[in-house]
Amino acid sequence: MSLETAIHADAESAAEAAVDRLEEWGRAALEERGRWVLSLAGGRTPEAVYRRWGEVTTLAWRDIALLYGDERCVPPHHPDSNHGMVAGALLARLAVPPRVYPMAGEHADPERAARDYEAVLEEVLGPDGAIDIALLGIGTDGHTASLFPGSPALGESSRRCVATRAPDGRPRLTLTLAELRRARRRVFLAVGEGKREILRRVVLGDADPVRYPAQALLRDETLETHLICDREAGAGLQ
Ligand code: 6PG
Repeated sequence: MSLETAIHADAESAAEAAVDRLEEWGRAALEERGRWVLSLAGGRTPEAVYRRWGEVTTLAWRDIALLYGDERCVPPHHPDSNHGMVAGALLARLAVPPRVYPMAGEHADPERAARDYEAVLEEVLGPDGAIDIALLGIGTDGHTASLFPGSPALGESSRRCVATRAPDGRPRLTLTLAELRRARRRVFLAVGEGKREILRRVVLGDADPVRYPAQALLRDETLETHLICDREAGAGLQ
């Protein structure tokens, strides 16, 4: 397996292509196993994908479980909440709701919230179970989920979810690289000129996954990983 990169003319066609692939993978999983478990990416990029997905999907969402790849330690109604973004962009458009498992961003103790989410992962996936698709973004510093450059969390091999801090010091919750590696498939979404240089560095530059955590997934040949981007973000890859 390796990295499959798809570069589309613009952000809108990249979002359409991402939804088409998700519908294709979802249909196959539901036909084969009767269930489909995703972890969702936060930030701004996936919002357009979630919105379009909610508008066009034909999947049986009652058989789908939505986890989160990470969350900011804020309440769901806070503008920075990933769950709040997903609720507005995707969930509000689904006629039949999926099972949704938000991380407890509002919890006063992020460490406790991370442990609680590990219990959720155990309940939803089982002790050795794997997420079917981990949707991910990439920051301009090369982070993914809330796994930031130089973070102690990068070396975590036994935990499935941990509390971390963003470079601005704000607390976050994140699935670990070990959990994201265990997923059957990873799908990175990136659009805009602002991601051009980091995509080039991460995909083609020197390997330094502590400095560029997204490399730990995008450059692991043993994993099936997809990168869906627009021409502005992917120009450095062609
Ligand atoms: C988050 C995300 C994070 C995001 C990147 C890119 O909670 O912020 O999980 O990893 O994917 O920071 O964010 P944008 O899509 O906003 O550029």
